[in-house]
Amino acid sequence: MTKPVELADLLSFAAGEAFVALGLEAGLGAMRRSDRPDLADFQCNGAMAAAKKLGRNPREIADGVVAALRGVDIVASAEVAGPGFINVKLSGAALSSRAQQVADDARSGAGRVAQPRRVVIDFGGWNVAKEMHIGHLRSTVIGDSLQRLFRFMGDSVTSDVHLGDWGLQMGQLINEVRLEQPGLPYFDAGFTGPYPKESPVSMDDLGRLYPQASAKSKTDEARRDEDRKATQELQSGRPGYRALWKHFCNVTRVGLERECASLGVRFDLWKGESDAEPYIPALVEDLKARGIAELDAGAWIVRVARESDKKEMPPIILVNRDGAIGYHGSDLGTIVDRKQSIDPQLTMYVVDQRQALHFEQVFRASDRAGLMPETSLEHLGFGTVNGADGKPYKTRDGGVLKLYELIAQADATAAARMAEAELGADASEAERADIAHKVAVAAIKFSDLSNVRTTNYIFDLDRFVSFEGKTGPYLLYAAVRIKSLARRAEAAGVVAGPIAVELDAERALVLQLDAFNDALRGAYDKRMPHILCEHAYALAQAFSSFYAAAPVMAESDAAKQGSRLALALATLRQLEIVLRLIGIETPDRM
Ligand code: ARG
Repeated sequence: MTKPVELADLLSFAAGEAFVALGLEAGLGAMRRSDRPDLADFQCNGAMAAAKKLGRNPREIADGVVAALRGVDIVASAEVAGPGFINVKLSGAALSSRAQQVADDARSGAGRVAQPRRVVIDFGGWNVAKEMHIGHLRSTVIGDSLQRLFRFMGDSVTSDVHLGDWGLQMGQLINEVRLEQPGLPYFDAGFTGPYPKESPVSMDDLGRLYPQASAKSKTDEARRDEDRKATQELQSGRPGYRALWKHFCNVTRVGLERECASLGVRFDLWKGESDAEPYIPALVEDLKARGIAELDAGAWIVRVARESDKKEMPPIILVNRDGAIGYHGSDLGTIVDRKQSIDPQLTMYVVDQRQALHFEQVFRASDRAGLMPETSLEHLGFGTVNGADGKPYKTRDGGVLKLYELIAQADATAAARMAEAELGADASEAERADIAHKVAVAAIKFSDLSNVRTTNYIFDLDRFVSFEGKTGPYLLYAAVRIKSLARRAEAAGVVAGPIAVELDAERALVLQLDAFNDALRGAYDKRMPHILCEHAYALAQAFSSFYAAAPVMAESDAAKQGSRLALALATLRQLEIVLRLIGIETPDRM
């Protein structure tokens, strides 16, 4: 990362020099944000670390550093506290100049990665014949936030939805359609085409046939054999099956694209497991020749267990005994495809934590095969969305909540909340619906992303859609309030002027604006969007205190008014950037 002129860096540098002057290491000067903002802006524990190492008195070292810091122009006060903490408050001038930099920067103080990488993000992962439901929400929302963040930081990102379109489910469905509509030409091996353009099944049909078929396949062994055979025939190119399968894919995709549009999620690639298929034969040949793939009970496998393993690590199945490719094979084939077409330096898979073993196996196989090194492949797992009972969320009748139903519920709740709060009252009906939808999407995304990625959370739409508390709607409201201030200022001819930080609430706001790049770096390095959410919320709160203490339109001193307006506009820009990184769009008014 390139280092901009963040306050912590400036101070760490000054403190580092003070340590050096005492004959100690510069690194001891590292300053971090104080967790006691009433006492200090930043604090440093270096004196204690140094004292411990040298067997000296920490307060003595701290006194020396503090004496030097007091002579530094950006420092307003430096004190030793407790056993040897160094507490620093910055000068108003230092905060003003930092605020001005952030205000003047189109990226609001954000850095960029020093070395942009080619990055693939595999998320979504929806399955053909299944409607998107609440279980797909997290991959979609987290993956989208990460693609936005990585792009913003300068990487070259390719997102791929990686549809589940090639496994045993496809053979199961083909057979289920055959049972219902045996006369269709898709099942007639002698049919020479062309096949009908219209799909013989709708999305509703698929939603009904799929569970029906998989239940039969589970209990009936003969049926399961037929399903495996149909899957193998589909994969090896039987024309009628391919044509029918294409209908399944197209019919499903209509719904998926509708949900994506509604959530504002975009993919660069709409590839699927089936796209790995052409890469498999050569891969198998190559791995055979190098002794990496082995024949085991008719299946081609790759062993991935290691001596150091503490848990069982089964081999991956490249091609099963029917000659069909399953989940392992398609993921490995996809790695070959991506290597040839993109050659990514990093691939991230945003998939349910429960698939951790699968990815560990695939990554090891990729490494063994010399395709992509294990270190460049990351499984970013996440927890489940639960109901109040702590189990994966179910609707009242025990079914799964479809994503479009969830979105419709959120839209309706948002509209009701807006009406209660008399928001959007003078907007047209269409505009009000648009705002309500933005509120709904903000509610859904923020409540998901604000949880630490790896933990489960409880789905509670009423709480998510509230305009109060740590919610998406609260943040939208905060942004809209600043937009409205900006319009009133413009109408009154008030313009932004040079920033001069005076009040405590202004200091706190500037410290928060300055913390943006830290939050970005944290979220980027850990692949944890909740860090962005925390920042957005802290920023909105700091603004709210600032605005209460430092009104803009009511201020009679023109210089103060201009400075406060500039701070407000800088906050708006940064808030909108963070919100965009978590996939949230702000309306102009409410
Ligand atoms: N379709 C899979 C499922 O529903 C998820 C796919 C995740 N991505 C991947 N490359 N395996 O479980």
